[in-house]
Order: sequence, then C-alpha cells, then structure tokens
Amino acid sequence: MLLANRKALITGAAGQLGAAIAERFAAEGCAVRLADIHVAKAEAAALRLRQMGADAAAVTMDVTDEEAVQRVFSELDSLDILVNNAGVTRINKIGDSTLEQWNELLHINLTSVFLCTKYAWPLLQHAKAPAIVNMSSTNAFQMNPGLPAYSAAKSGIIAFTQQTALEGAADRIRVNSISPGKTLSAEMQRQLAEQTDFVIDCDCYPLGRPGYPEEVANATLFLASDLASFVNGVNLVVDGGMSLQAVGGLVRSDLRRHWKSGSYTFAPEATSDN
Ligand SMILES: NC(=O)c1ccc[n+]([C@@H]2O[C@H](COP(=O)([O-])OP(=O)(O)OC[C@H]3O[C@@H](n4cnc5c(N)ncnc54)[C@H](O)[C@@H]3O)[C@@H](O)[C@H]2O)c1
Repeated sequence: MLLANRKALITGAAGQLGAAIAERFAAEGCAVRLADIHVAKAEAAALRLRQMGADAAAVTMDVTDEEAVQRVFSELDSLDILVNNAGVTRINKIGDSTLEQWNELLHINLTSVFLCTKYAWPLLQHAKAPAIVNMSSTNAFQMNPGLPAYSAAKSGIIAFTQQTALEGAADRIRVNSISPGKTLSAEMQRQLAEQTDFVIDCDCYPLGRPGYPEEVANATLFLASDLASFVNGVNLVVDGGMSLQAVGGLVRSDLRRHWKSGSYTFAPEATSDN
C-alpha cells in the first residue's frame, strides 16, 4: 500500500485520466476526493471506488472559479496529495482564435493549476509527505497546428511546476508534472474490443501502440508516492517514446511525400547576386 493513510484530491476526476488516477490511488490505500465540474460523472466514479471498499467522494469544483476552489480546500481537514489534472483541448488556429477563446483555455488549463495549488498549499504544508502532480502534455514541447493556447498552457504548467517545486522544497512539498502522449480513450478501447476491423494508425508510436490511461495513472502514483521521495521539479514524459522521433521519421512521412512530388523547390539563384 504505497499511499496508506493519505488523502488526495484529483481535479478532472470524472474524465478518463482522472478516474484512472483516482482508482490507482484508491487501490494503494489512499482516500480520494474526485473533483470535477461534472459532478454526476465524478459521483459515479466515486461510487465504483466505494463499492471496492475505498474512501472515495465526489466534489463539485469548477477549477476556474476562485471562490469555489477556495471553499473546497477550506472544507478539507487534511490533504497529502494534489493532482492538477483538469484540462480541455480545443482546436483553433492562431488567426481564427479570439482573445476570449485564448483566455478561456489558459484559464481552464493553467490558471486553474495556480488556483488549486494556492488554496491546497496550507493543507500540504501540514502533511507528512506532501506531493503535487500537474498534468501537462507532450504538446508542451511538440507542436500540432491548431493548439496555440493549449500548448502555451501546457508549457506554462511545466514552468509553474519547476517554480513551485523550488518554493515548496522548504516545506518538503514535492511538485512534478507529467506529459502524457495520446492515450486510448474509452471509446477507442470499446471499438477495439467490439470491431475486428477497427485499427489505430500506430506509425507514430515507437512501441507500436498508444498508451492506456492506467499507464499514466501508474506514473502519477510514482510521483505522488514515497518511491519518488527525491524527485522534485521534473516533467515525466509518458508517451512510449513518441516525442523522441525526429522530423523526417515515420511521424512526418506526409512531408517526405510532398518533397518528392516537388511541391517545394529550393531556388539558390534567387540569392546568387549577394
Ligand atoms: N488523454 C490524453 O491523451 C491526454 C494527453 C495529454 C495530456 N492530457 C491531459 O490530461 C488531462 C486529463 O485528460 P483526459 O483525457 O482525462 O480528459 P477528459 O476530457 O476525459 O477529462 C477532463 C476532465 O476535466 C473536467 N473539467 C473540464 N473543465 C473543468 C473545470 N473548469 N473545472 C473542473 N473540471 C473540469 C471535465 O469535466 C473532465 O471530466 C488534461 O489536462 C489533458 O490536457 C491528456
């Protein structure tokens, strides 16, 4: 039991990664509070854990609402682990994005991490082995078109994690982040199980498969537990090696095809007069 006698609050715990993290923590003896804006889904997840014998409860919390965040943490009598996992992805190219959309995405994905950290801090300062795990993404350092605000927020989470890790060290609060690659959604898992002709293009995965939410949950457990007692301020990439690939590798085979078909031609004569 890696988390016996500890209490964790996980944001976005009604979602696929948050629910997997709550279940993994509960299996290690942790009391879990599943916070989400969708409380019915969080309650269903908490009920499943209680039926397995865990101390689990759902908490309604909009991570962008400072008053709500303050209230939730002020109502807890103790807290050992905070997992800042809530987040949303929306595809908007820079030219099509409004300031409102930019602010909204930064607020949900990044400002929320500041708010929850700020109001969890006094509780964590009194914990025996306090830990925070923040959910970033490989999109923090590997870009896809259409994700400017999401990528900026996820990069910001890594910087905020490092800053908080330094500040927290005086109180023994360890702070780390995780950058998952694409993980299998419940819908994809259902299709794989039910449809023999359903395949996932795995060229971009060096291990030949995408990850499971449980594999991100295992990494979160490691960072939250005493197994990582001397790990502070790191960003743990959990993507099966996907982000190690250089441009021109399997992941960019589309570009190689364009080059061969002559869609771009380098023209040295244009600069030969200089
Ligand atoms: N699943 C992946 O492949 C993947 C990859 C990289 C990073 N991530 C990150 O992991 C985290 C979890 O992703 P997921 O795949 O489980 O997503 P998900 O959509 O299944 O779950 C996200 C949860 O966050 C909640 N949420 C959204 N806005 C909220 C708010 N304002 N207040 C409280 N809760 C709110 C949603 O209700 C949902 O339950 C996110 O931060 C995401 O960016 C996921």
